[in-house]
Amino acid sequence: MTASRVRVVRASPGLVWRALDGDDVIGAASAFLRPDGRWFVHIDLCRDDSYEPLLAAVGENTGSDLYAMADERDKQRLALLGRLGFTVNRRESLVVIPTDPQITGLHVTDEPDGVVIISANDAYEDQLRLLDDALRQDVPGSSGWKWDPGDFNEETFGHQFDPATYLVAVEVASGEYIGLVRVWKRPGKPRLGLIGVLGPHRQQGLARILLARVFRVLHQRGQAEVAAEIDETNAPSRALLLPLGAKVVGGFVEFIRPHGAAQ
Ligand SMILES: CC(C)(COP(=O)(O)OP(=O)(O)OC[C@H]1O[C@@H](n2cnc3c(N)ncnc32)[C@H](O)[C@@H]1OP(=O)(O)O)[C@@H](O)C(=O)NCCC(=O)NCCS
Repeated sequence: MTASRVRVVRASPGLVWRALDGDDVIGAASAFLRPDGRWFVHIDLCRDDSYEPLLAAVGENTGSDLYAMADERDKQRLALLGRLGFTVNRRESLVVIPTDPQITGLHVTDEPDGVVIISANDAYEDQLRLLDDALRQDVPGSSGWKWDPGDFNEETFGHQFDPATYLVAVEVASGEYIGLVRVWKRPGKPRLGLIGVLGPHRQQGLARILLARVFRVLHQRGQAEVAAEIDETNAPSRALLLPLGAKVVGGFVEFIRPHGAAQ
């Protein structure tokens, strides 16, 4: 067996690794750490003998399991991740949901007694962040999520923010934030980022009320559809969203490679 000539260097700045053969760059990987402590890695499709050394270097630097996402139709990437020791962790359906109330059956109604709905623009940011953290504990694949306040501000109020489609439900008596819906602005279709209600307030129609309000805004603007991802195991979310006339248009697969799983 000949010794491999491939060496891996971490490129500066940022979390990018390059595989070199002599002076030739033969592969690259990038990684980012999510607020739930999961490291996601993206490998460029390149020379076959670059992949394993790249992943080994990323794994060694992060000291962590590695996660990767792939489009379910991207057979080449699915096969590659399988060869590199990744296994399927979970799957998401990509759906488009109409906003027309005649199709969804979502008609705007009053808030439930003791609840008001406000725009995220008028919310206390720290309270909103803690609600977001709490809701994500119940979203498959994001348990353990804990925002850094600065990152939350950047993501929430960045270029995707739309104050008319990011709403928060507040319990009047306690002032507690108990649910939210957010639809992000995007080129093409707007995207449902999250619909969530805290445990004690579920199954009282609040999610449907929140969705009805933001979908009305979108429908009135002529935005006929919203894109959303739904985890295949998230039964409440599927039961809420699929009957609105949602069409499944694709899917994503999340993979995991346990730390130290060198091939
Ligand atoms: C999904 C979620 C937002 C639903 O909120 P909710 O306020 O309880 O939903 P609603 O009361 O408006 O329910 C509307 C419909 O959804 C369906 N539904 C909601 N929760 C359900 C459950 N646990 N089991 C079965 N169906 C459910 C029902 O069809 C219900 O209509 P019905 O009450 O007339 O039967 C809530 O369970 C939640 O916050 N989950 C955690 C966060 C999450 O996973 N969000 C989705 C990811 S984007």
